[in-house]
Amino acid sequence: MRIACLGGGPAGLYFAISMKLRDPAHAIDLFERNRADDTFGWGVVFSDQTVENLMANDPVSGATIAREFAHWDDIDVHIHGQTIRSSGHGFIGIGRKRLLNILQERARALGVNLHFEHEASADLATYSGYDLVIAADGANSRIRNACAPHFGVDIQRRANKFFWFGTHKVFDAFTFAFEQTGAGWVWAHAYRFDDDLSTFIVEMAEDTWANLGFDRMDQPQAIAVCEGIFAKYLDGNPLMSNAAHLKGPEAWLNFNRILCEHWSYQNLILLGDAAHTAHFSIGSGTKLALEDAIKLAEVLNPPSLSREAALLEYREERQIEVLKLQNSARNSTEWFETLDRYLHFEPIQFAYSLLTRSQRVSHENLRLRDKPWLESVERWFQSRALGTPVNDAAPPMFAPFMLRGLKLPNRVVVSPMAMYSAQDGTPNDFHLVHYGTRAQGGAGLVYTEMTCVSPTARITPGCTGMYAPEHVAAWKRIVDFVHANSAAKFCLQLGHSGSKGSTRIGWEGYDVPLDVGNWPLIAASDVKWSADNQQPRPMTRADMDEVRDQFVAAVRMGEQAGFDMVELHAAHGYLLSGFITPLHNTRTDEYGGPLANRLRYPLEIFAAMRAAWPAGKPMSVRISANDWMGELGVTPEEAVAIARAFTAAGADLIDVSAGQTWAESEPVYGRMFQTPFADRIRNEARVSTMAVGNIYEPDHVNSILAAGRADLVALARPHLIDPMWTLRAAAAQDYRGVTLPPPYLAGMSQLARNLAREAEMKA
Ligand SMILES: Cc1cc2nc3c(=O)[nH]c(=O)nc-3n(C[C@H](O)[C@H](O)[C@H](O)COP(=O)(O)OP(=O)(O)OC[C@H]3O[C@@H](n4cnc5c(N)ncnc54)[C@H](O)[C@@H]3O)c2cc1C
Ligand SMILES: Cc1cc2nc3c(=O)[nH]c(=O)nc-3n(C[C@H](O)[C@H](O)[C@H](O)COP(=O)(O)O)c2cc1C
Repeated sequence: MRIACLGGGPAGLYFAISMKLRDPAHAIDLFERNRADDTFGWGVVFSDQTVENLMANDPVSGATIAREFAHWDDIDVHIHGQTIRSSGHGFIGIGRKRLLNILQERARALGVNLHFEHEASADLATYSGYDLVIAADGANSRIRNACAPHFGVDIQRRANKFFWFGTHKVFDAFTFAFEQTGAGWVWAHAYRFDDDLSTFIVEMAEDTWANLGFDRMDQPQAIAVCEGIFAKYLDGNPLMSNAAHLKGPEAWLNFNRILCEHWSYQNLILLGDAAHTAHFSIGSGTKLALEDAIKLAEVLNPPSLSREAALLEYREERQIEVLKLQNSARNSTEWFETLDRYLHFEPIQFAYSLLTRSQRVSHENLRLRDKPWLESVERWFQSRALGTPVNDAAPPMFAPFMLRGLKLPNRVVVSPMAMYSAQDGTPNDFHLVHYGTRAQGGAGLVYTEMTCVSPTARITPGCTGMYAPEHVAAWKRIVDFVHANSAAKFCLQLGHSGSKGSTRIGWEGYDVPLDVGNWPLIAASDVKWSADNQQPRPMTRADMDEVRDQFVAAVRMGEQAGFDMVELHAAHGYLLSGFITPLHNTRTDEYGGPLANRLRYPLEIFAAMRAAWPAGKPMSVRISANDWMGELGVTPEEAVAIARAFTAAGADLIDVSAGQTWAESEPVYGRMFQTPFADRIRNEARVSTMAVGNIYEPDHVNSILAAGRADLVALARPHLIDPMWTLRAAAAQDYRGVTLPPPYLAGMSQLARNLAREAEMKA
């Protein structure tokens, strides 16, 4: 094949090498606009796995690269005058220029025609004599942009400014240095990549950048200011720029996240940064470029694959890798963009939060990397929770938590789950066993299902209620059992179904109206839940008074039944959520319109409940922090304001759920997918939050808590099939401090022993 490779960065060069290795008969012209020795950027980092891939593809260049790598294990985080060092991170780095020189040499030796100082044209017709044209011309790819509609290019300009410097200061650890200036925080990502050279990337928010005057400075001035800010790390070594061709503030960049729907058009194929980018803070762009090159060469060479099939396989396989990394990169990018949220953390927690920011590294990953350091985090967490220094490390999930006057023995919560098993609102033996078992299973706090404040407040005829004397007695029996037979605290969730009421029990048709016996619905407005559901009647002020009084009466009954805590359910599209979300609230009075109006009635109810509930007992509120409908609905930003408003009304905990507020919304599901909302609310509004949603491993729970992303973690579905989830987690972590019914002690010891033996064998 005759191939034109446009761009001589890692992607273009390595593709040319990989093609020649597979078939020396390919004729390859590589066009690079710069000279062989010019390069923007300093060092790049890889993982060991990338080096293995390079060795397998081309042992010759692989061995040279591997020989020249600088290797280091430690990460230093400098913040608030302290340095937190953790180890075992295993990075390798190499100079970008050196990497390119090695690849150029290898390409030349294999017979690739390298044309330097050759500006490639963006006009495809120029390459009519070639069978294939490879666009490896980087993130700003001119040739991709010229054919942009065919590639479905999606470019997102990220918020922060950065400058990629080099320095002769040799850092002995991967270094993150955070410095406060009069205009805001500025930080550096620095690592050694050669015997006497380090990369030093300076990053900051765009307004900090402008306030420091960088938008008006030429490069020497900007360098002098950065050297001043980071003087204590540089030991007198200057910062060096190799972007001298960019005169003024243009040398500062905003990272562009690039994603393409299609990776080829006619005989033009995108490779490396031209097809996708991954933020520099996870250091994977070069790896992706090199691995793209290997895969493309692989699929283009077996004669059995048609060109079309080859390109499809190339894109499909690589796209998965790219999306995985872009997910982590997005988390990492956002962490740096929202740094203000975490600056109030103590340095050790700040460092933990930084290390786990991409969510690729978890609590247990950190234990494998540096056990003593992780245990120091665990001791710190326990000490903070207990208010006194401790000597023994324990998993964060087993730290106690205070809610007003209530002490929870640990941070695991059984999330509210409707059981649809009551009759006329009265819980029965099913509920006694269900809640009793989950309380005995070790969770620190157990929630009831949404318990309804009147017969017509129920979602289904199977929902539990708190509106009749027999309800109080039936609940009291369960509460007494929980208190007598476990250390768990018990929270009563109270709600009203609104426009989602009068439907069948869960497994007979979710949100489907009853066949017979439907009752009329009330809601904020006359918006139906779906075309199949009843039209609700907009509430009058008299309705509002009546429902408020029902909530207050239910709270009083909850106190009589002995509950430790009460939650107001203001999420998931039910009555109060229907007031908060503009998707269901179309009112034009003081209860509709701006958020403050939409919150007015839910806050009125909350305040009335708070006044009726004992002052020493805590209350929480469950909210949907995102309607997953963009600006049309509640956004995570608005959720912070919602949380603040409920806190001002006396809420001790914000139970942060999301969605289920609009039938056609499309949530972005995934592991711990709602935790970012709990994190944002906790650390922007500075209130206690509970995370929930696809959290299922002890490792998830510990990671969320230690990183300060939430104070409590609720699990719903995992508790349906495993009421003993917390006891099992304690055994798996060999933690013996959990309270369990004494008759179960032998089971706990045996499980802990067996799991420890299995872990040993695996190790
Ligand atoms: C600050 C920063 C730090 C980074 N750190 C890391 C890291 O630690 N680890 C890591 O793996 N990645 C890192 N990256 C990402 C990495 O640099 C890129 O992902 C990688 O270089 C992509 O390789 P590429 O060959 O696709 O593109 P590039 O490296 O951008 O190469 C494109 C080449 O095409 C040439 N070119 C462009 N247009 C034309 C034209 N019209 N005619 C001829 N030639 C042209 C350019 O001169 C360039 O040589 C970092 C990126 C940045 C911005
Ligand atoms: C069967 C079932 C019933 C539920 N009922 C309620 C409920 O009554 N009140 C509530 O706020 N959330 C309810 N939820 C939502 C859960 O509390 C939780 O937010 C959701 O299931 C996500 O958590 P998970 O991924 O751990 O299951 C219910 C979930 C399930 C699976």
